[in-house]
Amino acid sequence: MKHRIAISTLMVGVLFLACTPKNPEEEKIENLLSQMTIEEKIGQMNQLDPSWDAEPKEQLIKEGKVGSIFNVVGAKEINRLQRMAVEESRLGIPLLVARDVIHGYETIYPIPLGQGATWNTALVERAAQLTAQEATSFGIHWAFSPMVDVAHDPRWGRVAEGYGEDSYLTSRMGAAVVRGYQSEGMAACVKHFAGYSVSEGGRDYNTTWIPEVQLRDIYLPPFKAALDAGAMSIMCSFNDMNGLPSSANHHLNVDLLRTEWHSDALLVSDWGSGSDLVPHGLAANKKDAALRCINARMEMDMQGNIYTDYLKELLDEGKIKESQIDECVRSILRMKFRLGLFENPYVDEENPKKYTPEEIAIVDQAVEESAILLKNDGVLPLTLDKKQQTILVCGPMADQKKEQLGTWVFDGKPEYSVTPLMAFNELAQSGNFKVLYEPGLSFSRDKNSKGINKAVTQAKKADVILYFCGEEAILSGEARCRANLNLPGAQCEMMDALVATGKPVVMIVMAGRPLTIGAQAEKAAAVLYAFHGGTRAGVGLANLITGKAVPSGKTPITFPKMVGQVPLYYNRHNTGRPSYAPPMLIDSIPIGCPQFSIGQSSYWLETPTEPLYPFGFGLSYTTFEYGEPQISQTELADSIIVSCEITNTGSKDAFEVAQLYTHQLYGDLVRPICELKGFQKIFIPAGEKKEVQFTLHKSDLGYWHEQKHNCESRVWFATDPVDFELWVSPDSRRLTKPIAFKVK
Ligand code: NOJ
Repeated sequence: MKHRIAISTLMVGVLFLACTPKNPEEEKIENLLSQMTIEEKIGQMNQLDPSWDAEPKEQLIKEGKVGSIFNVVGAKEINRLQRMAVEESRLGIPLLVARDVIHGYETIYPIPLGQGATWNTALVERAAQLTAQEATSFGIHWAFSPMVDVAHDPRWGRVAEGYGEDSYLTSRMGAAVVRGYQSEGMAACVKHFAGYSVSEGGRDYNTTWIPEVQLRDIYLPPFKAALDAGAMSIMCSFNDMNGLPSSANHHLNVDLLRTEWHSDALLVSDWGSGSDLVPHGLAANKKDAALRCINARMEMDMQGNIYTDYLKELLDEGKIKESQIDECVRSILRMKFRLGLFENPYVDEENPKKYTPEEIAIVDQAVEESAILLKNDGVLPLTLDKKQQTILVCGPMADQKKEQLGTWVFDGKPEYSVTPLMAFNELAQSGNFKVLYEPGLSFSRDKNSKGINKAVTQAKKADVILYFCGEEAILSGEARCRANLNLPGAQCEMMDALVATGKPVVMIVMAGRPLTIGAQAEKAAAVLYAFHGGTRAGVGLANLITGKAVPSGKTPITFPKMVGQVPLYYNRHNTGRPSYAPPMLIDSIPIGCPQFSIGQSSYWLETPTEPLYPFGFGLSYTTFEYGEPQISQTELADSIIVSCEITNTGSKDAFEVAQLYTHQLYGDLVRPICELKGFQKIFIPAGEKKEVQFTLHKSDLGYWHEQKHNCESRVWFATDPVDFELWVSPDSRRLTKPIAFKVK
């Protein structure tokens, strides 16, 4: 009887399976998988950079031992290798061709931090689309970006590659890039999963300690947003988090990514991050590293060779199951099918798309919107039509075709760059002004002061000085961390010498991170923070300086006054002893005073907690007045509508970034003093008024709670039913009166 039940259950099961409509993509994957040998499966999990690997790539590809290649340049070479995979390997599985396409392909856009400063997701999405059109026309299928690591520490060189310090802004930007790339058939790879930016001391690859609730509140949402936007892949990070490197982190890679988030994105290691488990001190040797990585479902091994060298052995020894390998290969094949590589493996060698007129217009717009006007005593925009003027263009970044491109520009072509000097010379041909040029310093770290004297001589002949200072490209990006955030070389001395001429000095900072420019900014007549603007940095900056464009960039990250303040970010906790103003600073402490006489509050003896420039800050050539925000209800059950009127009270038409912030007054855990919950970039003609509207959902106010009981920990997401306040503001400071509301 028992036997009969078992058989009929089995038959029902078989019938059910036969009747369940199969996803055709999954059917194709299963069909191909069933034909693959174990060597071919492991081969798919191997990502090879032929420029590094000694082994002849051709042979490996023909044997089906490579699933993806990266850093192969040129459509012809890509097609040559692809032909070997498609026409000469046993199963003809095409290669995935990857590349670090980070902020443009040949045409370089502002660095991602600069793109964050635009607060314009539509622009960033369009830039990503155009980038993908270029990159795919050169044979690239897969971009290793966006980087959505939320960064609080400008010492960390990779702050240049992300969208700043805020989880919400980063989520919006990351999702925009994913949509942009993938709408043009280039897969995005959201990275680095996870916690990479929290490296101790801002030193790259360093250890991170991140409590689960903080990880979920701040660092994970941008990954989730990118995956929700359809990101086809995700990359492990290099760091160990709470003692466990990501490539071996089952909790991240399986519990979270697969089980909780239901993502089927391909998980690729970072460069050798699997074999790094040995120097990390986690794995005994590379074979052990391979075992730990496959057990944590790291699916593709970027340039680490641990899977090609050890997976078969581990399988033969019974330490892993073939089904574990199959799971990984499915993800890889799925991405190849989704990209249409089986139907269309080759790239048209005769049709590279670059520098199209539309792209140039978007690049210029991106430069204009990424620059932040931090100070202006009225010197900007230059009024060049009134009387004949002489402008001195100077500084080590004024005419640096390569340096203005920034980090990660493997395919960028400096010969196409337009520098600020070139742009001003061009404008001078039709304008009523004369351009003098004297760099003063020949590169950003230059300490040779002889050139400064030459610049000063020229400065004396000028009406206004444009000082292009900052950092060369090599000073930011991967492994380019700084312990000192001042302008490098003799740039501060040069600033002083220029200011001493009595002429107005406009500082234009081209850098990969916020620098501690407080002392120089104080002396400057205006400060325009431009980051590394890319191919057309000169054009966009000249447009801003001459008033053809109006600045609208806002800081995507807090600018510290001094390096000792970092990490410094706007959505911090208040502490039980908030800093009161003005605290007693080091030089005002009476000699010999008793211990408690200078108070017990949270600040540094050299500076209060205020930054140099707060998050969300940026000036314009016009002024905006914010009305009092209105809310649809004072009790929030599901959602409320927040509206606010903004008037352009100046004389220039301009864009403004209106920002919605909330603050939870008390609750189950301490919450930040303010949190960004929405933003809108709107165009307001001079003298006009516009209304911005935001919908604030209850879940937007939720956060991760943690309870520890009997040594067991439980985390959950919820909104506390308590009192909140909100304000709509031009930056993260409480510039308008907060409105109170309650969550039910
Ligand atoms: C290491 C970097 O961390 C990662 O972001 C990059 O995509 C890979 N190398 C490939 O170059």
